[in-house]
Amino acid sequence: MTRHLIDIEALPPGDAERLIARAVALSRGARPEACRGEIIQLFWEPSTRTRVSFELAAHRLGLRPLSIDPERSSSTKGESLEDTCRTLAAMQPTALVVRHAEAGTPQRVAGALAGTGVAVVNAGDGARAHPTQALLDAATLADEGIDWAGARIVLLGDLRHSRVARSAFSLYRRLGVEDLRMSGPSALLPDPDDPAFRGVARVEDIDAALDDAGVVVCLRIQRERIRALSLPDADAYHAAWGLTEERAGRLRPDARVLHPGPVNRGVEIAPGVADGERSRILRQVRMGVWLRMAVFEWVAGAAESTPSA
Ligand code: NCD
Repeated sequence: MTRHLIDIEALPPGDAERLIARAVALSRGARPEACRGEIIQLFWEPSTRTRVSFELAAHRLGLRPLSIDPERSSSTKGESLEDTCRTLAAMQPTALVVRHAEAGTPQRVAGALAGTGVAVVNAGDGARAHPTQALLDAATLADEGIDWAGARIVLLGDLRHSRVARSAFSLYRRLGVEDLRMSGPSALLPDPDDPAFRGVARVEDIDAALDDAGVVVCLRIQRERIRALSLPDADAYHAAWGLTEERAGRLRPDARVLHPGPVNRGVEIAPGVADGERSRILRQVRMGVWLRMAVFEWVAGAAESTPSA
């Protein structure tokens, strides 16, 4: 059976926990499984860390990664996304890693590849899901021995347009986190009936939201997904909604600060907090490679156990 990683919800029971544990084990020196084959990366949206992270993860397992710039591919000659992906799948790579501005694209690609044995890994689709980011964040926290059941996790900023937030909450609920909160300007918070935010407390007052938090995740304003919205300038936003030095100074001594990147210093987070001792930002980046190795092992392991047609 081909294993796709489309979103957290579609992961079979126990697999999120296993991927997190495997990433932590790899980061501590466990031997990676030797894999053979190729990975093709198709990023219809810009990316630095995610793309390089998948690429290094492939290299470290012995898989050969190739990156295609869809803007320079046959997509510009009128070929449908499905046909582009089926063409690439016909060359029999192990997996396609897909990022696209339109929600649902990785699922569509997986549908188009049915029966080919080629896996699809979602590297971010619109504001819908970014499962490897959620898993690597959780692995970063698991590596430090977080107690999920007792954790208070707060996400700050632009949750409305954030695929990171949707996948994160889905995963944290699954891991048994009961105290989930969000805070940000009302225009950047999700609709109250958005099911992705079920069970997440909406705390209008940012200082109240941060009270006794064990984990604070700062999110960038996703300007590329916002058409008409008037937001305060960077300084005013920072004062009202940013993780300022003062706010960080009032956090619990053991509180950890995460950010998926790219970081907009002085907007959603103060430079000194991003670089400070609570910050786990570069640890997240490091863990990202281990987590994506775990994902490729998971995908390749399933492919190996499938008799070829
Ligand atoms: C995030 C993304 O692309 O969704 N970045 C990332 O993958 N680390 C978050 C963002 O762009 O703000």
